[in-house]
Amino acid sequence: MCGIVGVIGRDDTTEVLLNGLEKLEYRGYDSAGIYVDSKSGDGHLVKEKGKIAELRAAVGPDVKGTVGIGHTRWATHGIPSNNNAHPQVSANGRFYLVHNGVLENYEELNSKYLSDVTFKSETDTEVAVQLIEYFVNSGKSVLDAFRQMVDLVVGSFAFLMVDRNDPERLYVAKNKSPLLIGLGQGFNVVCSDSLAMLSLTHEFDELHDGETAIVTKDQVEIFNREYQAVERNPYHVELDENETGKGTYPFFMLKEIDEQPAVLRRLVDQYMGERDQFKFDPRLIEQMAQADQIYIVAAGTSYHAGLAAKTIVEKIAKVPVAVELASEFGYHLPILTKHPFFVFLSQSGETADSRQVLVKMKKMGYPILTITNVDRSTLSREADFTVLLHAGPEIAVASTKAYTAQVTVMSILAKALGQKLKTDDSKIDLRHQLGIIANAIQTIVDNKEEIEKYASDFLEKTTNAFYIGRGQDYNASLEAALKLKEISYIQAEGFAAGELKHGTISLIIEGTPVIAIITDEVTAGLTRGNIKEVEARGANTLRIVSEDLAESKDQIIMPKIDQVLAPILTVVPAQLLAYYATIQRGYNVDQPRNLAKSVTVE
Ligand code: F6R
Repeated sequence: MCGIVGVIGRDDTTEVLLNGLEKLEYRGYDSAGIYVDSKSGDGHLVKEKGKIAELRAAVGPDVKGTVGIGHTRWATHGIPSNNNAHPQVSANGRFYLVHNGVLENYEELNSKYLSDVTFKSETDTEVAVQLIEYFVNSGKSVLDAFRQMVDLVVGSFAFLMVDRNDPERLYVAKNKSPLLIGLGQGFNVVCSDSLAMLSLTHEFDELHDGETAIVTKDQVEIFNREYQAVERNPYHVELDENETGKGTYPFFMLKEIDEQPAVLRRLVDQYMGERDQFKFDPRLIEQMAQADQIYIVAAGTSYHAGLAAKTIVEKIAKVPVAVELASEFGYHLPILTKHPFFVFLSQSGETADSRQVLVKMKKMGYPILTITNVDRSTLSREADFTVLLHAGPEIAVASTKAYTAQVTVMSILAKALGQKLKTDDSKIDLRHQLGIIANAIQTIVDNKEEIEKYASDFLEKTTNAFYIGRGQDYNASLEAALKLKEISYIQAEGFAAGELKHGTISLIIEGTPVIAIITDEVTAGLTRGNIKEVEARGANTLRIVSEDLAESKDQIIMPKIDQVLAPILTVVPAQLLAYYATIQRGYNVDQPRNLAKSVTVE
């Protein structure tokens, strides 16, 4: 979603902003802009609909300064356009503001304070910058006007503002949307994600909800909701900037698919000691063991990982698990069990839907674990426990290695919990199983051309497709279909194989691709029956099958693994099918239309 960058105290301001925005491209956006100023008051505003490359092309050599703010906008209020792009400017051209989030009461504030102002955009953000000007015109200092605006707006926001008359400070505020301040020598930066500024600093101050800050080139002052100064200890971001690049890969998604065997092995090292000693916080396992039900709350791919994890935890640890869509759960709370334990699965750790549930469950006093790929992300900070995915930055919008890492971490947790609860199934040789899976994924990614060919045979020209499976294969089908539809724009559905005949089979016509996943010997025969039913109606079937259940005409054969872990493996050919179908259809794999990586609005 929207990305924010800002810098003060450097001569290469324009380049810092453009490079930072390029690093934030992965979050998803449809327009971008920068405002650059210097002590001489020579301000430059450049905004472009479309990609950062277009913004770069529009930035002339005269766009130079020592302070600047930049923004990638993912449209919520108003179409993607130059006018609606940020920075938004106040009527007299004095205040420049970028915003990530949604202001819920902007119409109310507009009619109460700004009925005489002519608006230039359709955005909720413009109200914020016009309010600052309004309060300054009515006699307040800029700082007080900024604070009054922050006090009045309701919703989610990360704000970054420059006053053209005093371009020696940045005004910063945060509520719900992520924002960090990066610390330099003689300069400071502001950004939505540390990735944007790793080339300049690895030291960051995090801002908490309700906090504001004034940033100059030499100083960072942070204030709480009551505007009292607060001390903040900076933290060090370990990430190497090189890890944030594509290397020799054409797309991040392919790189991230290929990294999965290494991620699995890293997770085994990270969390499993020799002789089934686990490297989790013992209090975490203790608290999980006391739960009468585990609630996994998540969105999108992470929700699908939660579905796969439910089967694993229930099998290995024998604790009931409910998997909940974050956007639904928080507002339609079911009757909870007496001793729930909450697990939030989130690659980014910033998903607003998940966060609103976390805040509510925290208020209710329930124990909370966040499993995330981003250390110090909001969901991680606010939980009682954090377990990291150690997958390295996931930049492609379509999540791949985070899914396999989430299911893997949940399987290791399940074994630790099962061992604590002394269940028979916790005796599973998980280290060995995960080793086989890592090797099998390696074989799949080493033989990509085979999958590329199936993508061309089955998916290049189609408008719709189905994935079918039962049990864990159904759970993998849901994720496989999401991968396919989100990047290739093929309308794809993951279906419980036995359910198709209860209505949806009417969509099967000559040539409809149906991809079946079969790894469970108990239901394999039934799914084969469902394959026959769709073939009888003209479907083209592609079958992903474990070797013990394979038949001569099956195309993609996987080694046999413990069936409960199957989604970690079967999802990989589906990721590659989605990748190649997208390339063949001529779309941008990493940045599909309308999508954002870190979804920071509800
Ligand atoms: C799909 C995808 C999304 C995310 C979802 C939740 O490929 O990436 O469906 O899984 O937006 O995001 P996180 O996991 O960051 O909470």
